[in-house]
Amino acid sequence: MEIKKKTCFVLFYMCCFLACVAKGLDKPRITLNAEDNIFRNYSLGGNHSRVELLQGPSDTTLYVGGDGKLFLIDFQKRNHSEIPLTYNVTLMHRYPNTQYLYVCGTHGEPVCCNVSMKLTNSSEPLPAQGIAPFGVDEQAPSLFIEDELYTTASYEKSGSKIGIRRWSDGSMGSIWSNQENTQDLRYVALAWSGPKENKLQDKVYAFMWEKNPDPSREAELWVPLVTQICKVDRGGPKSCLQKSWTSHLRARLSCGIPDRKLYFSKLVDVTILYAERWNEGRAYALFSNGWNMSAVCIYTLGDIDRVFTTSSFREHPGQVPQPRPGMCVSDSTKLPRDVLKMMMGPLEMQEWVKPVGDRPLIISRHQYTRIEVDSVMAVDGTQYSVLFLSLEDGRIHKVLEVMGQFFIIAELNVFQRKTVIQNMLLQNSTKKLYVSNGVEVLEVDLHACKKYGTQCVDCVQARDPYCGWDAISQTCTAASSGTIQDVQHGDFRRCEDLPVSSALHSLPFVTEVPLQAAHFLNCPMRSGHAEYNWYYNDDSQGCVSTDKGCLLLIETMGPDHDGKYECKASEGGYERTVALAQLQTAGRAAGLPPPLAGAVCLLSCFTFFL
Ligand SMILES: *[C@@H]1O[C@H](CO)[C@@H](O)[C@H](O)[C@H]1NC(C)=O
Ligand SMILES: *[C@@H]1O[C@H](CO)[C@@H](O)[C@H](O)[C@H]1NC(C)=O
Ligand SMILES: *[C@@H]1O[C@H](CO)[C@@H](O)[C@H](O)[C@H]1NC(C)=O
Ligand SMILES: *[C@@H]1O[C@H](CO)[C@@H](O)[C@H](O)[C@H]1NC(C)=O
Ligand SMILES: *[C@@H]1O[C@H](CO)[C@@H](O)[C@H](O)[C@H]1NC(C)=O
Ligand SMILES: *[C@@H]1O[C@H](CO)[C@@H](O)[C@H](O)[C@H]1NC(C)=O
Ligand SMILES: *[C@@H]1O[C@H](CO)[C@@H](O)[C@H](O)[C@H]1NC(C)=O
Ligand SMILES: *[C@@H]1O[C@H](CO)[C@@H](O)[C@H](O)[C@H]1NC(C)=O
Repeated sequence: MEIKKKTCFVLFYMCCFLACVAKGLDKPRITLNAEDNIFRNYSLGGNHSRVELLQGPSDTTLYVGGDGKLFLIDFQKRNHSEIPLTYNVTLMHRYPNTQYLYVCGTHGEPVCCNVSMKLTNSSEPLPAQGIAPFGVDEQAPSLFIEDELYTTASYEKSGSKIGIRRWSDGSMGSIWSNQENTQDLRYVALAWSGPKENKLQDKVYAFMWEKNPDPSREAELWVPLVTQICKVDRGGPKSCLQKSWTSHLRARLSCGIPDRKLYFSKLVDVTILYAERWNEGRAYALFSNGWNMSAVCIYTLGDIDRVFTTSSFREHPGQVPQPRPGMCVSDSTKLPRDVLKMMMGPLEMQEWVKPVGDRPLIISRHQYTRIEVDSVMAVDGTQYSVLFLSLEDGRIHKVLEVMGQFFIIAELNVFQRKTVIQNMLLQNSTKKLYVSNGVEVLEVDLHACKKYGTQCVDCVQARDPYCGWDAISQTCTAASSGTIQDVQHGDFRRCEDLPVSSALHSLPFVTEVPLQAAHFLNCPMRSGHAEYNWYYNDDSQGCVSTDKGCLLLIETMGPDHDGKYECKASEGGYERTVALAQLQTAGRAAGLPPPLAGAVCLLSCFTFFL
């Protein structure tokens, strides 16, 4: 009964949702293809099962770790260095202030090495078990901060004993999780809360999911969680939790619309946008659900911290010992017994961490696979977030977050064929996005603004915070002070010299169409958010959207079809002519050639359904 009701709710919501989709809110405004030259590509000379990406020593360079190879690619000079490795790369970090990289991989067993930044030499193997995965398929995020390495790889080949560990030569020592788990769970991302004003309270957060222990049918399959540990944690005393975390807490993440019984529980990917004030830092979390829908929920580090520092503890009603479990203390080996005892089990908060605005930023029918986020300063000084979401077939959506809503600025269709995006890296200082499918690596220029069009309106309606209209050069270009932009509303009235409503003045060539022949008029559709319409003698004729454009079909040509046709696009209150045609009936009747007859039938049926 319950299940039926739930399914019903979900179906009802899906219908409403699909109605929105039909209205185009879920559609990219512009599609950019490989021919638009917004990227530079580099071939890896093979098909790598996994690629790891790391910013190189200079702005246009990138380290790429693959199967048995490590590359340093210079996209500007279009050359590269490479060294052969005896393993397939699974993890790369840079040691701060040294000339070395920390590179790990697997050859059946995990292995780590120091590799010089210029790829001239590589050290003897370093310890790797529990740091790097056994297999290239295992995703195990790691974090390298302040000379400490936090890792989440499985400790055994079977993929079991997954937990968060710290590796440190310093006074804090290495720490292992006492809650290492053999059940189905995966770490998705690690984040640092700091640096906080009070360094003692610096924490590391881990985003993860695990199989829901609740076996009932109406329960969600997965449970998304965030956990915390204190950076100053040095484990318990000899008798209890020695060299194990004494500050490990967990809290559930909520993402969905409870009123509609719509929940997203499979955490797919998380990326962190750090802020000047640590508590304003945001975790952008990508989820999916059993219906193959995607959602993005945003959690602030401040909200996460608040749940860990104020919520009551699940299954621990009553008195909470002092200091409060999970509080960071300068010497965790001196914690009282009752606190340590509580920290032995998985200790979960009663309260769930809620997303910003209490609901997802994005709910989409697209199956997104990865997320990257950039913070971009608009011309008016406002900071906007731009999300990059990869799809399962190799496309990428560039999405603006604005006033709690989202707007798909563009679809980047950069790979020429269907492919699986293996990794993405946003380089915020150079405004480049690196994407790889294992065969090639692309460097996508996020300032490629010219593609939006040749008029101010094209540039302003794009709502791309990276781009602005330069009135002097009359181009859509990288945003800078003085360029015209309206990220908030995309209002065309920001543009000064608006072209008179009909952009194309010259009379079109006359096209002669044989009497009784069928003829199509095509109107190019640049914007997925505009409405297109063909007019004949100022009467709207409508048109049928296809991949190629908006088509107007004249089934049988005759003198009453002679004359001027105009296709207008209307978007955000701005209307303009995008195509003109002039038809004239020619000579005598012509029979329909057979392929065209088929197309006419198909199109008629299609029009009928619309
Ligand atoms: C880069 O892309 C172009 C087309 O956009 C393609 O012709 C070329 O083969 C690619 N180069 C590499 C090295 O993959
Ligand atoms: C690379 O190899 C994988 C697995 O064998 C395959 O599915 C994929 O299509 C290959 N990629 C390309 C671009 O050829
Ligand atoms: C590319 O070539 C230049 C010389 O033209 C060289 O200095 C540089 O090291 C090369 N870059 C890489 C990544 O190999
Ligand atoms: C690396 O991965 C490839 C699959 O692409 C596999 O054939 C090869 O054996 C692996 N190499 C090592 C050293 O593990
Ligand atoms: C690896 O590099 C780090 C940082 O430079 C250094 O502390 C460590 O001793 C190196 N290990 C080896 C085996 O070279
Ligand atoms: C790498 O080579 C440099 C000189 O070429 C040498 O000084 C350094 O010790 C080497 N490092 C390792 C880890 O072998
Ligand atoms: C979701 O997608 C997967 C693979 O892409 C497919 O096998 C599965 O049937 C889909 N599920 C639903 C409910 O559409
Ligand atoms: C880029 O991101 C890093 C880490 O998130 C941050 O510390 C840095 O301030 C950012 N830089 C810019 C230019 O936004």
